[in-house]
Amino acid sequence: MSDQPTARIVATGRYLPDRVLTNADLERMVDTDNEWIVERTGILERRLASDDITPVDMGARAAQRALEKAGVAPGDVDVLIVTTATPNHWLPSTSCEIQSRIGAARQCMAFDLHAACTGFLYAVSVAEGCLASGRAETVLIVSTEKMSSIVDWDDRATCILFGDGAGAAVVQGATEGRGAAANGRGTVAGRRGILSSFHRSDGDMAPLLQRAAGGSAKPLDEERLRNKEHLLRMSGREVFKSAVKSMASAGTRVLADAGLTGDDVDLMVPHQANIRIIESTARYARIPMDKVFVNLHRYGNISSATIPVALDEATDEGRIGPGSVVLTTAFGAGLTWGAMALRW
Ligand code: ACO
Repeated sequence: MSDQPTARIVATGRYLPDRVLTNADLERMVDTDNEWIVERTGILERRLASDDITPVDMGARAAQRALEKAGVAPGDVDVLIVTTATPNHWLPSTSCEIQSRIGAARQCMAFDLHAACTGFLYAVSVAEGCLASGRAETVLIVSTEKMSSIVDWDDRATCILFGDGAGAAVVQGATEGRGAAANGRGTVAGRRGILSSFHRSDGDMAPLLQRAAGGSAKPLDEERLRNKEHLLRMSGREVFKSAVKSMASAGTRVLADAGLTGDDVDLMVPHQANIRIIESTARYARIPMDKVFVNLHRYGNISSATIPVALDEATDEGRIGPGSVVLTTAFGAGLTWGAMALRW
């Protein structure tokens, strides 16, 4: 952690497909009921992209919105990072396809970063490094997920959880915000940008959440397809326990590193996977639920897109503004997890 912020999210954007899949719809598809889903997850409905809408389509729309809001032309992006667990193709990267779609071909470096649901927070840290090293002045992060394409729609334990959508963020140097008026608390008071961050992964836990087939280890064949080994499988209870522990410890650590406490946080924006995980994380960080942004009842878990989509909604709603102290936390397959404290 540096004691001077070097990077700042200057604008965000989002795209959510129109089609809504409610819990009542799911009751007609698998052996489940609305009450179970709401009580165990907090999800009421999720958005699904139609067959002709790809992660590239969704990501490009979110990116264009974020660039418009930032007043940045596509050609002025130096680095484009895409996070996705559902790439359009294995080759080339989804970032190259989005780069072409938004009219930035040949103008910047573009690559995919894969850290499942934690992808956005990992990408912000990579962006911070690009800015601090002087290799970039503007980094565009696009988190785009078509989870409906990798979910087994016959598996009630997973198909109720996920949705589709995309979020984007423009990240630039924090210098312009230094010394800006904020609420004057903590050791890093007044500086706008990323105050502290913490990321970890635990490859020993990889089997808890994976798509076993379809990669080089288990190329697709008829039997694996028949057994649906290419679709997402999860040990929900184990992932749940690990998520609570890791998000809570990462969240409290970044606050301590920034010299802040839960009282200093204006809004917590956690990964939106399960309302019970969010409530436990908030409790550990001593942040009351009225200072926690929740939209999973409308969108479900959109993997790495949840945080940029939530940040974009929170700014649109005026719940985040210049000087706001924001705490974000995430976890996902890998397992991966992380947290970030920032002053908006
Ligand atoms: N409807 C009704 N019953 C169900 C359903 C359903 N949709 N799904 C499971 N059940 C049943 C189970 O079969 C089980 O029945 P049994 O006791 O007769 O065996 C019972 O409900 C309890 O199952 P659990 O899995 O123990 O339920 P739990 O309270 O743990 O909730 C859930 C399950 C919601 C999946 C929870 O574990 C969870 O949210 N885990 C975290 C998942 C997550 O966030 N994953 C995303 C990671 S991010 C990424 O990288 C993609």
